[in-house]
Amino acid sequence: MKTAILGYGNIGSGVAQVLRMNADCVARRAGEPLEVKYVLDLREFPGDPMEKYVVHDLDIIVKDPEVKIVVETMGGTKPAYDFVKACLKAGKHVATSNKELVAKHGAELMQIAEEKHINFLFEASVGGGIPIIRPLNECITADEIDEITGILNGTTNFMLTEMAQEGMPYEEVLKQAQELGYAERNPEADVEGHDACRKISILASLVYGRQVDSEEVYTEGITELSDRDMAYAAAMGRTVKLLGTARKKNGEVYVMVSPVMIGQDHPLYSVNGVLNGILVNGGVIGDLMFYGAGAGKLPTASAVVADMVDAARNQQVTVMQRWSAEKLELGDWKKTEK
Ligand code: HSE
Repeated sequence: MKTAILGYGNIGSGVAQVLRMNADCVARRAGEPLEVKYVLDLREFPGDPMEKYVVHDLDIIVKDPEVKIVVETMGGTKPAYDFVKACLKAGKHVATSNKELVAKHGAELMQIAEEKHINFLFEASVGGGIPIIRPLNECITADEIDEITGILNGTTNFMLTEMAQEGMPYEEVLKQAQELGYAERNPEADVEGHDACRKISILASLVYGRQVDSEEVYTEGITELSDRDMAYAAAMGRTVKLLGTARKKNGEVYVMVSPVMIGQDHPLYSVNGVLNGILVNGGVIGDLMFYGAGAGKLPTASAVVADMVDAARNQQVTVMQRWSAEKLELGDWKKTEK
């Protein structure tokens, strides 16, 4: 089956790499080999294994009936939104890692996919390589979800961990996180909490069935925290984590992102470094914990490729990952207590 990758950056090139590295197991699970026919990017990549597949015009992909699955790893919404829409309208399955796109336009894109009987999949948009979208959508479906709370941003968790454990100053750890390729192109999205906000908005939309407007989510990042704050927390036997939380209480949904001081008995206390941890609580099932590589090239790419496998397997069936475009009114976070 022929595929195309839109955006050959960190994650896009990771997708090509995973498809090469794990070609046999991917083919076995997808039912046939998945081959990249095109890579859309403005740049050229001399010496790269995908060099000869690079194109600069989306139309080539949209108009090629052989291309069945398109991966979108461009990030941002311009032009990703128009590109994804064009691919879906042309009847191509789309797998994306783009949380901004899903948080803003997910409901509409899912609607188009449903009308076209194809799949719009976004496992990689939350938690990098951690399976969380599919479990929430397909496994934990018997239960009302009372709360999801998680460390959803690897960059800031890496930074907070280094600040807490090594006493490193904020600026230095941010630079390190960028060098390691964890941080978004614009680190503001990580450190101001916007990335975590988009991710918790996606999870809340998915479990509560309506569009959560991430602009309305109370969001506070880690820019005000210093290594000294981390040392104070440590002196109290605690640590500080940037948590994204969605909670349903008395029929109202509350969503927020904020640094929170947690003790050693909290399941997220030991989630350190670039790892993410997501705690899901359901009335019947109790606590579930999802833990693993929440950022990084290959783990995130593995989630994208898993979506490609899913799309290949379910060509005639729309995998329903959806919520309605109707806006979910959020409760005032400050008025809720656990
Ligand atoms: N910048 C993001 C993070 C990448 O650090 O978690 C993965 O979404």
